Amino acid sequence: MDSIKIRGGNKLNGSVPISGAKNSALKLMVATILTDEPLVLTRMPDLADTRFLTTLLQHFGAAISRDSSRMQLHTPRLEKSEAPYDLVRKMRASFNVLGPLLARNGEARVSLPGGCAIGARPVDLHLKALEALGADIELSEGYVEARAPHGLQGGQITFPFVSVGATEHAILAAVLAKGETTLENAAREPEIVDLADCLTSMGAKIEGAGSSTITITGVDRLKGTTHAVVPDRIETGTYALAVATAGGDVLLEDAVWKHNEALWDRLAAAGVNAARADGGIRIRSENGRLAATDIETRPYPGFPTDEQAQFMAAMCVADGRSVIRETIFENRFMHAPELMRMGAQIDLRGNEAIVTGVESLRGAPVMATDLRASVSLVIAGLVAAGETTIGRVYHLDRGFEGLEAKLAACGADIERVKE
Ligand code: EPZ
Repeated sequence: MDSIKIRGGNKLNGSVPISGAKNSALKLMVATILTDEPLVLTRMPDLADTRFLTTLLQHFGAAISRDSSRMQLHTPRLEKSEAPYDLVRKMRASFNVLGPLLARNGEARVSLPGGCAIGARPVDLHLKALEALGADIELSEGYVEARAPHGLQGGQITFPFVSVGATEHAILAAVLAKGETTLENAAREPEIVDLADCLTSMGAKIEGAGSSTITITGVDRLKGTTHAVVPDRIETGTYALAVATAGGDVLLEDAVWKHNEALWDRLAAAGVNAARADGGIRIRSENGRLAATDIETRPYPGFPTDEQAQFMAAMCVADGRSVIRETIFENRFMHAPELMRMGAQIDLRGNEAIVTGVESLRGAPVMATDLRASVSLVIAGLVAAGETTIGRVYHLDRGFEGLEAKLAACGADIERVKE
């Protein structure tokens, strides 16, 4: 298995091109199921997860081709409407094919995804939303069997708490339902707005994306379109935190300021200079140590859970004590014990991590169990004394396009070791 080797201590200087957002790309690709015309996605990241979803969509009959960051998906007809366990268990976002399959085909059978390293992650909200749209749902042998023989009907869905995936799933199903659907307490993430923008240019009628109330008026059919995937706000935040921690001056090309306001606020409190610049966002961290700062993860526009691990890495070498509270997932501190192996001082108390900044971290062999946890170890490795080897690189490959190349171009001493 490949690993990544980092010799810490170099500052980062230069620029980093921000790729299209993984978590948007995965939902946009699924939209191919809703139309028999070609869907072209530009600024498409090339990641293990997008390749994996390509295989699943091809299984349903989609023809998918890729030329650099342009992907064309075309599903003239659905050949299957079953997503087997083997294809769903590897990536939870695959579960979002259920609603579109049902909308296009009137029935679908999709494996339940199961838990994962960061928490139990049930799909009850997804299923309730589809039921509210008139789907008849049964669970059998680990599969969801859904039917809507006369098509989906518009409905009223009030989410008991915010779920990104369930909001997206409801939108993907409701665009072809008969009549009007209202989503209350909907997620407001930029990925929701991106999905709504793409579907709207395919002919869907969606109002209110980006707010807590979304109204969808169903249409009979959707057409093809060309859509640019929104720049990845989590990749943006990750490189911003890498520069904050290692020090330096980096332009994050194409990064969107308003998608990371919560992070800019916390970085300002920590003493990092983040500012809008020509062509993106410029991060400067040149005044020595960061000031310890607290965060609490929240649905957008709050501090994103997907940047919590990276923020923790930064706080490990800050001046003072920082309290990090995780409120979205119940088991998302798996990086903490690995950071401690590098000399970090972290006290875990339920959903709180109390980090006391240390003078310096020491390189060590480490590994993590999910994507964002893994990249937090990369950030720690950039500032640690000596060599850090990060195992299970496949986690990083799921969500960071060209990670080593982007960091090396800014002066990091980082390489992939193939085995
Ligand atoms: C999306 O996951 C992202 N994944 C996650 O990114 C991200 O951490 C998360 O949103 C929160 O921002 C993709 O977009 C592919 P949720 P999602 O539904 O949609 C609970 C990464 O590293 N819940 O908003 O699955 C759930 O267990 C990943 O890129 C239910 O209880 O997240 C969690 O505690 C990791 N029942 C909370 O809601 C449900 O039916 C929020 O999850 C659905 C969710």
